[in-house]
Amino acid sequence: MPNGMPAPSLPAHVAIIMDGNGRWAQQRRRPRMIGHRAGARAVNRTIDFCLERGIAALTLFAFSSENWGRPQEEVDALMKLFLGALDREVDELDRRGVRVRFIGERSRFSSGIAQRMDRAEQRTAGNGAMALSIAASYGGRQDIAHAARLLAEQVAAGTLLPEQIDEHLLGRHVALTDLPPPDLFIRTGGDTRISNFLLWQLAYTELWFTEVLWPDVDADLLQRALDDYAQRERRYGLTSAQVAAAATETVSP
Ligand code: FPP
Repeated sequence: MPNGMPAPSLPAHVAIIMDGNGRWAQQRRRPRMIGHRAGARAVNRTIDFCLERGIAALTLFAFSSENWGRPQEEVDALMKLFLGALDREVDELDRRGVRVRFIGERSRFSSGIAQRMDRAEQRTAGNGAMALSIAASYGGRQDIAHAARLLAEQVAAGTLLPEQIDEHLLGRHVALTDLPPPDLFIRTGGDTRISNFLLWQLAYTELWFTEVLWPDVDADLLQRALDDYAQRERRYGLTSAQVAAAATETVSP
């Protein structure tokens, strides 16, 4: 079994697609950016919730590789929002023991944003209360392709044999490889797809979808997702009987 036995009732790692900011604003006849700003407040509530519950890792999809194709005005405004959030929130995250990191193509961001990302990572690198990963200019296929390229370079350099490449080795070269894979994936906004998020890492993740738009997310909704997760049986391709037997072995002295 890839990662041990049945789910402890609390997920160690939660990954979220924060969808619905634009529709939230449209419903209020406001510009889409108002929705993104409200979305940033929901990010803070979610971080608070995860810290309070003792969730060890939280990964948020803030900006996909494909989001660069949005109207330039929206991309620019989102970049301004990210810059402001980086300037405002990092001190507080550091004080609360959160380790921040960014996954995705950092080189596509302006040097101002990329430098702040570097600094936020360096500053919080020693923290252990929670690992907060922000996927920015991230795509799951790009992540896997990048890992494949790293291995191909080692083969070309003569330090790796093609037959040494297996899923464990490739898995050590994708993003977030030092964390347990997400136990629980949440997507708000009503769509029931993964949209090129963490494709490799989500292989055995429990998926939870809600119609609620991201800016409306609060502790009650997040608790509902955790309660649902606690009821799931994670079988990792085995049978229920095998999973039950393994659980008995785990708890017996
Ligand atoms: C998806 O909603 C949301 C985004 C593309 C941006 C996510 C950004 C935030 C939640 C704000 C700040 C984040 C951080 C980390 C500070 P959408 O625009 O696709 O909504 P729609 O589907 O209703 O149009």
